[in-house]
Amino acid sequence: MGHLGTQGNPLRTAIVGSGPAGFYTAEALLRSKSTVVVDMFERLASPFGLVRSGVAPDHPKLKEPIRVYEKIAESPQFRFLGNITVGRDVSVRELRDCYHTVVLACGAQTDRTMGIPGEHLAGSHAASEFVGWYNGHPDYRDRKFDLFHETAVVIGQGNVAIDIARVLAKTVDELRRTDIAAHALEVLAESKIRNIHIIGRRGPVQAKFTHPNLREMGQLADCEPVVNPSDLELNAASREELADRKNRATVKSYEVLQGFAARPTTARHRRCHIDFFKSPVELGGGGRLERVVLMRNRLAGEPSRQVAVETGKTQELACGILIRSIGYRSVPITGVPFDDVRAVIPNRDGRVTDGTNIIPGLYVAGWIKRGPTGIIGSNREDSVETVNAILADLPHLDMYPSFGTERLEALLERRGIRVVSFADWQKIDAAEMRRGKVAGKPREKFTRLDDMLDAATAHQL
Ligand SMILES: Cc1cc2nc3c(=O)[nH]c(=O)nc-3n(C[C@H](O)[C@H](O)[C@H](O)COP(=O)(O)OP(=O)(O)OC[C@H]3O[C@@H](n4cnc5c(N)ncnc54)[C@H](O)[C@@H]3O)c2cc1C
Ligand SMILES: NC(=O)c1ccc[n+]([C@@H]2O[C@H](COP(=O)([O-])OP(=O)(O)OC[C@H]3O[C@@H](n4cnc5c(N)ncnc54)[C@H](OP(=O)(O)O)[C@@H]3O)[C@@H](O)[C@H]2O)c1
Repeated sequence: MGHLGTQGNPLRTAIVGSGPAGFYTAEALLRSKSTVVVDMFERLASPFGLVRSGVAPDHPKLKEPIRVYEKIAESPQFRFLGNITVGRDVSVRELRDCYHTVVLACGAQTDRTMGIPGEHLAGSHAASEFVGWYNGHPDYRDRKFDLFHETAVVIGQGNVAIDIARVLAKTVDELRRTDIAAHALEVLAESKIRNIHIIGRRGPVQAKFTHPNLREMGQLADCEPVVNPSDLELNAASREELADRKNRATVKSYEVLQGFAARPTTARHRRCHIDFFKSPVELGGGGRLERVVLMRNRLAGEPSRQVAVETGKTQELACGILIRSIGYRSVPITGVPFDDVRAVIPNRDGRVTDGTNIIPGLYVAGWIKRGPTGIIGSNREDSVETVNAILADLPHLDMYPSFGTERLEALLERRGIRVVSFADWQKIDAAEMRRGKVAGKPREKFTRLDDMLDAATAHQL
């Protein structure tokens, strides 16, 4: 056998997670000068992570990276092993026994919590649940969202909050021809929501949404954006932030907000209020959500480091549904160190550490490495950093894992796991598109594992 990463001894890598971070890691490995074989493990029967289950259904262009991932999957050195939850069906230890390197790219599977009284009342939800539900993620298929109320509140002012507000604000005709899950479209079609509030704890200059997404809120068929002009008055530190050349995109968002504040009122059926300087401090109601108590804030601190400080003034807002969109959160994987405060796997440039020492052969990429921020493309650079660490470590890695991958295959078989291959996925994909054609949509997603497995075993391609 030759050196690790040569024809005689190819670098065997297991990647856990098939979102952007997983695929960009595979791409960088397969493009490297070393000889590499990649097995990608995914807990769902479908690949592509949040590109499939996060990106909004009415933003099909943003799902185009999938074409790149499909090309990567064509490589003969690449295998997809879907429907396997690492940490449950197979342990990280078992993977490490069979591969030279294991890269954890599991993303962020849950949400941050607000930590306020009433947070868990019926009617209060997390963004990951609502987004997973309208995007047909099997985990959220049976969630119930009661839209028989006049007012919906979204807490947080990032792009996810805007996605959620837009889905709530759109008419059924604006959503019908997207790949939104049929069960969600049905519920949204009956929605009684007239007012949507997107509530930020800081000001218009600190909001995290980007201007194209914000601008879209002014282009909806039956929803009017509403901004209180007094919220757009800036303190000196915020003016300084806006003047900073690196914040040119923020200037554009601010201009969009000014445009919204100056808009004459129209007869549109729904209103989307973009409210600033307010933090939820309590959710109340008899058995289910009826109101949110909001604390008025002011900003304090240096430019670009301003924080929300409570003024002591509160107000109540009656609402029947509240969705917190204050950031996703990664979950620990059994047998792997986890930094509970930052909710990431501790690492140095992608090399997993136990807090002090590097764990040889174990790497991390994407949201579980750096936290839940960044667009799809940000994960490419992040994955390249991890792959550079792997390639630099090649001379020091254990040349001979204890077992070959046949052992893993035998193990999965013994545990009765139905592995979904990429060819299986292509059959599922084709079946979804056929179903979509009938409904006049790009695809009608399967939302139950059994249906996906049936489609994978069916004869028609
Ligand atoms: C609601 C939402 C909308 C977004 N929209 C956009 C957008 O329009 N444009 C844009 O550029 N960016 C968007 N983003 C950001 C983008 O989706 C992320 O930057 C990117 O998906 C993060 O990649 P990742 O691979 O780290 O995680 P993910 O995409 O979450 O992929 C992680 C994968 O790991 C799998 N997994 C998890 N645990 C296990 C396990 N134990 N075993 C096996 N598999 C496991 C998951 O099922 C998943 O497939 C959005 C994010 C969210 C939350
Ligand atoms: N179309 C797109 O390109 C698209 C679509 C969706 C998502 N994405 C990307 O995906 C990433 C994740 O998006 P995201 O919206 O989940 O996260 P985000 O951009 O980090 O926004 C989180 C929001 O929640 C607020 N927040 C956090 N903790 C809070 C608390 N305790 N109380 C009240 N508010 C709180 C933050 O306010 P503070 O600023 O005060 O902390 C911020 O407004 C982002 O990088 C985003 O750009 C992109």
